[in-house]
Amino acid sequence: MKIIHLSDPHIEPKLLHGIDSKQRFKLALEHIKENHINADHFIITGDITHFGQNNSYQIFKDILVEINLPKHLKPKLILGNHDNRENFKKNFPDIKTDKNGFVQYVEKDNDKTFIFLDTNLAGKDEGYLCEKRQHWLIDILQKEKQNKIFLFMHHNPLALGHKKSDSIGLVQREEFKKILLQFKNSIEHIFFGHQHITSSGQYLGINFSSPRSTWQPLVSNFIDKYRLGTANTDPNYNVILLSDDSIIVHSEDFLKSEVNWFESE
Ligand SMILES: [Fe+2]
Ligand SMILES: [Fe+2]
Repeated sequence: MKIIHLSDPHIEPKLLHGIDSKQRFKLALEHIKENHINADHFIITGDITHFGQNNSYQIFKDILVEINLPKHLKPKLILGNHDNRENFKKNFPDIKTDKNGFVQYVEKDNDKTFIFLDTNLAGKDEGYLCEKRQHWLIDILQKEKQNKIFLFMHHNPLALGHKKSDSIGLVQREEFKKILLQFKNSIEHIFFGHQHITSSGQYLGINFSSPRSTWQPLVSNFIDKYRLGTANTDPNYNVILLSDDSIIVHSEDFLKSEVNWFESE
């Protein structure tokens, strides 16, 4: 199975930090169309727009229509801190929500269960998974624990460096940790975005990975206080190859140029 994991397109009509997020998202989609049409799933883990405005969601949808990916690659979406839940729902009326109106839902593919979480709290950059959302997650994990479970969320569930330096990750880390520990035998991988950095590793015995943003990569912070920075480096998206005995996460720098494939003799 091949999964495309893209994050943080931050669509906005105007330039953001001198970068056209619309254009970069378009280039990423063109790259996917050219190289990964055989993927099984396409997931975008939030910060779909920069300001959560209706016209930005409309531009996002227009770009998807223009690139015209095959039907099976219609992206599954979740919310980021930059999104607006009400505008998101207005623009994507088909997307499922839980009984409390959060954009949380489940998709199944044979022995695999994909769980999509909503960690948005209006006006906050950090992530929130309130008790209602936690209960929803626990119920689903309980029902699906015979399957291989893959979690998709916008915010990083653990600090990606020093704890003190990460003030915009998930706030309910301890509560989430308890849930993960309870179901760690069923959870295969956690996919997230938000920090705009390529990361991968293991947490509580569960694999995780994140791509950069397609708009603006940020710089990893290795010091013990909050610091955020941009750099002139490649944006990317991830390509995940799943098999019975492995999970491989590739990083696609879609702005790469001068690609030369060696020809076989
Ligand atoms: Fe973002
Ligand atoms: Fe974010």
